[in-house]
Amino acid sequence: MKKKVDFLVIGSGLAGLSFALKVAEHGKVCILTKAHIEETNTQYAQGGIAAVTDESDTYEKHISDTLVAGDGLCDEQVVRKVVQDAPAQIEELIRWGASFDKKSNGEFDLAREGGHSENRILHHKDNTGAEIQRKLSEQIRKHPNIETLEEHFAVDLITQHHLGMLVKRYNDDILCFGAYVLDLKTHDVITILAKTTLIATGGVGNLYNTTTNPSIATGDGIAMVYRSKGIIENMEFVQFHPTSLYNPGDSPSFLISEALRGFGAILKTQDGKEFMQKYDDRKSLAPRDIVARAIDNEMKIRGDEYVFLDATHRDENELKSHFPNISEKCLSIGIDISKDLIPVVPAAHYMCGGIKVNHEGQTWINHLYAAGETSSTGLHGANRLASNSLIEAIVYADRAARAAIDEIKSVSIQENIPDWNIEGTTHPEELVLITQNFKEMQQIMSNYVGIVRSDLRLTRALNRLEIIYRETETLYKKSTLTKTLCELRNMINAGYLIIKMAQDRKESRGLHYNTDFPEKTNLTILNQGSSKP
Ligand code: FAD
Ligand code: SIN
Repeated sequence: MKKKVDFLVIGSGLAGLSFALKVAEHGKVCILTKAHIEETNTQYAQGGIAAVTDESDTYEKHISDTLVAGDGLCDEQVVRKVVQDAPAQIEELIRWGASFDKKSNGEFDLAREGGHSENRILHHKDNTGAEIQRKLSEQIRKHPNIETLEEHFAVDLITQHHLGMLVKRYNDDILCFGAYVLDLKTHDVITILAKTTLIATGGVGNLYNTTTNPSIATGDGIAMVYRSKGIIENMEFVQFHPTSLYNPGDSPSFLISEALRGFGAILKTQDGKEFMQKYDDRKSLAPRDIVARAIDNEMKIRGDEYVFLDATHRDENELKSHFPNISEKCLSIGIDISKDLIPVVPAAHYMCGGIKVNHEGQTWINHLYAAGETSSTGLHGANRLASNSLIEAIVYADRAARAAIDEIKSVSIQENIPDWNIEGTTHPEELVLITQNFKEMQQIMSNYVGIVRSDLRLTRALNRLEIIYRETETLYKKSTLTKTLCELRNMINAGYLIIKMAQDRKESRGLHYNTDFPEKTNLTILNQGSSKP
């Protein structure tokens, strides 16, 4: 079966939906999502969205905070433009119906998170993402030019390769004609041809065995672009959120928003002692890479499985009205956040790198755009500043929309694309072949390519991943397509890129910490042997 559209959008989070709403005035749009429209990382965002909206704040301060967090690797021009474009995109969200909390005087109730020098986070209680996702999904459902295909899994991008031509990486002439898509209900593979395609497939959290990300976050877009010979960068910068709720068995791990630390909550070891002063003057509100490593270090030194977050000194009513979602979740497992300490542990949270894009969100493959967490714009450098992700997603979706609207005027649909040539015919009966490799991959990534790395751990990780890669490719070639097998294959591709890029970075910087290279903070990392200045 073939389908033809002007704009193909892969992903139904903030990046995909906001792009779709903008381009829909100019042509026919098809949105694909491998799950339900609202099952996205966006839906789970808690803390909020960063933008300068208050007179006491300035663009320069937001720019400076972003650059400091990024540890020298941000593209300053990108940072400046995103920060300056942010307020207009907040207005767009409000026009689409999203509401952000206000104080009694009508001004935004701005929150503070780690690495921010001002209160500048707009939020909707402690479930900002759900509010944004709901309001955008409502707009999408109403739009006559937008068709949303739920439970449709994008398997691969269509390029000249599918016309039998040789495609090389770093070749300027690669063209994207759309995507092959697996209908998860009928198991048919549809060919969707498009004048332009946007990848907005989100993050990679499920590469690790503890993550805040829902199960959709399997790096599919990054893997598809890599296989199509596009450019991927900065994959070594995997952000671990310092504080997910320690509640073994929960998947995804429930996030305890950084906004709670912004509200005064303090990190403590299990014996009730504060420890962040040993690592950074900003204590519990230091940037995430520093806080996550500090917690990891304390847990390793003490042999503990978690540390505590203490908010008990804050007013009970204020706590519960600002953080109803966190309060309710904790209460459901017997923790009253106004009286009890909250057990927390770091968890894989965000991919700072990804598909390299230019200022217009264009990838290195023609007619192919990327926005949101799957992309690498240059905003985050070596470490993303809290709440800069949602704003990046909407700012870049806006830029990509403008460029794509312009582009479709001169592009036509490629007609002679063959249908999916399913090589495999065997249904993988032994699902254990997939599930076991999935678990092994998560173990490899968690134990060797986590918060603290070393050359030896990275070499071991690569050797072991290669075995799983070979087994999975063999299985893929002889099997009919299934979502789980495709996801495993994508995660192995993404894991490979993380390890290779981590090996190539001969330093410790931002989120990439390698004990074989000197670091700049005063953190004493276990196994390192000596304390560094
Ligand atoms: P997503 O919202 O993740 O959407 C991805 C979409 O792609 C989904 O619809 C998925 O089904 C689809 N998809 C993936 N692969 C395929 C495929 N092969 N075929 C078809 N569809 C596919 N950021 C902030 O700025 N502020 C916060 O407060 C904040 N809090 C967070 C809290 C949590 C618990 C988490 C997990 C993240 C948080 N983040 C926050 C990060 C932020 O939410 C995400 O980076 C952002 O929402 C990503 O949006 P996106 O549109 O790029 O992707
Ligand atoms: C949080 O609320 O702590 C998450 C914010 C983010 O990931 O930007």
